[in-house]
Amino acid sequence: MPEDSRIEAMRLIVEEIRNCRKCGLWKGRRNTVPGEGSLSPLAVFIGEAPGYWEDVKGRPFVGAAGRLLEETLLGVGLSREDVYITNILKCRPPGNRDPRPEEVKACTPFLDRQLELMRPEVIVTLGRHSAMYMLSKAGYMVSGITAVRGKIYRARFWGTEVHILPTFHPAAALYNVRLKEYLERDFRLLREELERLGLI
Ligand code: URA
Repeated sequence: MPEDSRIEAMRLIVEEIRNCRKCGLWKGRRNTVPGEGSLSPLAVFIGEAPGYWEDVKGRPFVGAAGRLLEETLLGVGLSREDVYITNILKCRPPGNRDPRPEEVKACTPFLDRQLELMRPEVIVTLGRHSAMYMLSKAGYMVSGITAVRGKIYRARFWGTEVHILPTFHPAAALYNVRLKEYLERDFRLLREELERLGLI
C-alpha cells in the first residue's frame, strides 16, 4: 500500500479508536492511546495497556517503562522512530489492573487492523498479554512468558512470513536486574533477526 494510503487508513483507525465505546474503559479515560511511530516500521512493539502517563498524554510508553524501552532500543542502535509502538488495549484500565477478556475481545480488532495495514515482518510482544494474544493467533500454545520469551516464532499472516519475538514487559524489568538483562538480550536477538532478514 502506498505511504499516503497507509497514513489515511491509520488516521481512520485512530479516529474510530478515539470515538470507541465498545467496552467500559471509555468512561475512565482521559485520552485513548492508539499507538505511534513509523507506518513502515522495522518492527511493531505491542505492550499491554496505557498506564497513568500514557492516558494523560495519549501516547504509548511515555512513562518510566517507556524510558527503559527507549534506552533498550538505543542500546541496539534502534530508535522509537524506526518502529511502531502500540498496545493490546487502547484505553487505561483503572488502577492499571490486568486487561479483562471482554476488553481484549472488544479492542484487539483495532490492533489486527493496524497490523494488517503495516504488515510488519517482525513483531515484538512486551509482557504476557500481548505474547498470549499474538502467539495464540499464530497457533502456538503459551504456558507463560518465561517459557516463551527470547525465541522467534514464525507465523503466516497476510500471506507473509512474520517473526514474533516475545520478551518481558519493560515495567517488570524496571526493578529487576535479571529481567532487565533478559530484555537486553532479547533486543540483541531482535537486532540479529532484523539483520538476518536484511531489514537493517
Ligand atoms: N505499559 C504498557 O503496556 N503500555 C504502555 O503504553 C505503557 C506502559
